[in-house]
Amino acid sequence: MRILGIETSCDETSSAVVDDGAVLSNIISSQVLHNLYGGVVPEIASRIHTQIISRVVQEALEQSLTKINEIEGIAVTYQPGLIGSLVVGTNFAKGLAIRFGIPLIPIDHIEGHIYSGFLEGEKLDFPFVTLVVSGGHTTLYFVKSVIEYEVIGATRDDAAGEAFDKIAKMLGLGYPGGPLIDKLSKEGDPARYRFPRGLLKSDDFDFSFSGLKTSVRYFLQKEFKGRNLTDKELRDICASAQNAIVEVLVSKSIKALNRFSCKALVIAGGVSANSLLRKKLKEEADKNNFCVIIPKMNYCMDNAAMIAYLGEWKLKLSTSGQFYNYMFRANATPIRSR
Ligand code: KG4
Ligand code: ZN
Repeated sequence: MRILGIETSCDETSSAVVDDGAVLSNIISSQVLHNLYGGVVPEIASRIHTQIISRVVQEALEQSLTKINEIEGIAVTYQPGLIGSLVVGTNFAKGLAIRFGIPLIPIDHIEGHIYSGFLEGEKLDFPFVTLVVSGGHTTLYFVKSVIEYEVIGATRDDAAGEAFDKIAKMLGLGYPGGPLIDKLSKEGDPARYRFPRGLLKSDDFDFSFSGLKTSVRYFLQKEFKGRNLTDKELRDICASAQNAIVEVLVSKSIKALNRFSCKALVIAGGVSANSLLRKKLKEEADKNNFCVIIPKMNYCMDNAAMIAYLGEWKLKLSTSGQFYNYMFRANATPIRSR
C-alpha cells in the first residue's frame, strides 16, 4: 500500500512516501530560524509550516515518483506537539484527503517514534523496549505488538534533550545544546566533576534531570563567579554533565530490558544522536547479549517516514471505512495517556 505521511508537530516540516514498509522518500525541512532565539518559538514554527508544507509534500511525491492519485492512505501526526504546528499538518492532510477521497489516518507522534526501529527493514521481534529521548520526551515503552504498548517510565520533570539544551545555555553555548555539548565532551574529562544522577537507584523506570540542571547552575555560580571558564574547564563540565545524563539513560534502559525479558532495545528521538549514549549502549549490548537498534538520524529525529510507516500498518489492520472520518482534532497533549 502506498502511503503519504505528513509530520508537523514541532519545528520539522516533513513528508514521506512509504510502500509496503519501504521508505521511498522522506523529506525533512528543519526550521533553523529558531536557533536565533535559543529555542523553538511556536508562532514562528506554525508560520513556517504554512509557508513550506505544500512544497515539502510535493517533493516527497516527486522523489518517490508517485502521483497523488496513486496514494492509498494519508497518515498525519495529530498529537502531541505544538498546537499551531499540528493544525497546519492536520488541516493540509484533511484538504488532500477530502479532495482526492483518500483514507486519512491520524497518528500519535510518539507512537511513530516507538515503531521507528522497523524503518530500515530491521528484523525485530516483539516484545521489545523503546526509549524515546528528545527535547520534549524521555520515556520508556514496553512494546508488545503493533498496537499494544505501555509506558513503563518517563521523566518527572525535564526531558534529557532539554537538560542538554539548558546546560548548554548556562555555559553560553548555542541552541540546540545537545550536539555542542557532545562535541566539546570529546576532549573533556567526564570524571572531573560529579553531577547528580537523578533517580538512578530508584526502583522504577522514571527519570529526573532537573536536579542535574540546578546542580550545574549552582556549581557555575559558586566555582566560577566573576571569571570566565577556561577551555579545559568548559570541556570537562560538558563531559561530566553528559556522562551523568547518559549513565541514567543506559542504566534504566537495561533495567527495563531485564525486568520485561526483552532482547531488543530501540532508541529514538534527537538525543539518540549522542555519541556517548550510542557507544555505551553498544558496549552494554555486547556484554549483556541484547541488540540495540538506533535508526539512522533521519528516522530518529522528527520525520514523516515513521508516521507513514505506522499509518500503513494501521490501515491494513483497520475495519472498512474507519479512516474516512475526517473530523478528528489536533491535540497539544494526548487526551488519553497510556
Ligand atoms: O527529536 P528532536 O529532534 O526534537 C524534539 O525534541 O522534538 O530532539 C531535539 C533534541 C534537542 O534537545 C537536542 O539538543 C538534542 O535532541 N540532541 C542531542 C544531540 N543531538 C540532538 N543531545 C545530545 N547529543 C546530541 N548529539
Ligand atoms: Zn519527536
